[in-house]
Amino acid sequence: MIFKHKDKDIVIDEKANDLTILDIAQKNGIDIEGSCEGSLACSTCHIIVDKDWYSKLDKPSWDEDDMLDLATGLTLTSRLGCQIILTDKLDGLKISLPFVHNDVRLNKKKY
Ligand code: FES
Repeated sequence: MIFKHKDKDIVIDEKANDLTILDIAQKNGIDIEGSCEGSLACSTCHIIVDKDWYSKLDKPSWDEDDMLDLATGLTLTSRLGCQIILTDKLDGLKISLPFVHNDVRLNKKKY
């Protein structure tokens, strides 16, 4: 699996293992928040799937589509990383992280 972020390719050699893309990213130090831990109550695990790989994924559920509507920087190949499980057919999957995302930890403005 290849994560592209800030013009850097991060190659992760992970075999199909029933982990989600979010699990794998966090396990390998890639900064994806995933604040609801995969319960489809946020969109902080937003990823962008390479267009050549997007059609190889199962279709997103209605609930995932609803949460994607809240993601910042949404694209036609956006998905939620907590909803994609790494399988053998996804060997070599290419993913980008959005350039912008909502993360309350980064909001330094005082109210
Ligand atoms: Fe919240 Fe994926 S971690 S929807």
